Amino acid sequence: MSTHITGRLTRRSFVNSVGTALGGAGALLAGGLPISIANSAVTKTPFGIAVELEPFRNDPEYRKALTKYADILVPMNALKWASLRHNRHEFDFNGADEIIEFAKLHGKSVRGHALLWYAYNPKWVEAISSAKQAEKLLVEHIEQVVDRYRGVIPSWDVVNEVVAHDPLSQGNWRKGIWLDLLGRKHVEIAFKAAARTDPNAQLVINDYDLANFGRRFDARRDAILAIVRNLQDQNIPVHGVGLQAHLYAERETDADGLALFVKKLTSLGVKLLVTELDVIDWRLARDPKRRDLAVARTASEFLAALYSAGDVESITCWGITDKYSWITDVFKRKDGAPNRPLPLDRNYQPKPLFHTIEKYRNLG
Ligand code: G3I
Repeated sequence: MSTHITGRLTRRSFVNSVGTALGGAGALLAGGLPISIANSAVTKTPFGIAVELEPFRNDPEYRKALTKYADILVPMNALKWASLRHNRHEFDFNGADEIIEFAKLHGKSVRGHALLWYAYNPKWVEAISSAKQAEKLLVEHIEQVVDRYRGVIPSWDVVNEVVAHDPLSQGNWRKGIWLDLLGRKHVEIAFKAAARTDPNAQLVINDYDLANFGRRFDARRDAILAIVRNLQDQNIPVHGVGLQAHLYAERETDADGLALFVKKLTSLGVKLLVTELDVIDWRLARDPKRRDLAVARTASEFLAALYSAGDVESITCWGITDKYSWITDVFKRKDGAPNRPLPLDRNYQPKPLFHTIEKYRNLG
């Protein structure tokens, strides 16, 4: 049910609760940039988990795993337009608030996903036909959502998947409502609105298919770099690039291409975040033990390339247990065997992927 909530969660109450939970260490820098659990005792790369509402509400083991393993929680769907905007006039923050309250209680930081996406918009948004209306709506949305969580969500995926799937055949930009109505400046509008609303927030451009060999992947990395440079040329803040890292086990990592990409981003002063890590195992041989090793190897090659080239600000997995994953719905295996894309198995036991991530996190 929709509720219109005007109040904000305050920065102070969040920091205090996090500080208490951490024995006073605090989870946010004074400037508001996310360092998650930044205290002297913890030097590991912070680990995030994207949280799905249904198991969050109904599966106590799932909540236990979030408590035990995460430094950062990311509402997987609850901050998307389709979840927040059932109609033009109201915001439904219930799902996001539940997750964020849980984060506060357990001393976790939070990342926000996502303020603009071509997909998962409500029908009434898709029906908009004028540029003026679209810009007004986009700016109002970002202002309301970012303001509500100012000081509480220190890092946002401002734009998600704005690069075309194949820039070589489609041009750099992802088609969709925002590009159709506003042109390429939709990205600038979004970043400006977010920066104006929370000048302390870390603002991230998030995208997929940035890790492998091939001209399409080169073109996608180039497109991201071009967008970052364009924003910087106009003095519009952009602080991070999110590599979703939905990795296909059958694809080869382009270690050199990825390392070069990281170095270029670093030289532009932009941070690197792994935002949606999981491994698509649909084409691997069935044997679970061997499959788990192959999944871990895929992630290891990817993380090795990143860590060889620069700092990784955080590693977030798109879920935590194989019991709940979008991959099970979208990448079903021909042999009917359940997918095994995430760090914990269906019984919440750590798999080789878990240990691989730990190994790289320990590099700091
Ligand atoms: O919550 C309802 C549930 O009540 C209902 O029974 C069920 C019936 O289908 O639908 C449930 O909602 C689904 C929701 O996930 C929660 O599981 C939606 O139909 C489904 O469309 C939605 O899919 C999400 C998808 O984004 C679209 O928003 C996936 O969970 C989520 O993992 C996926 O995440 C994206 C990232 O945002 C961007 N990068 C790619 C990634 C994977 O596609």
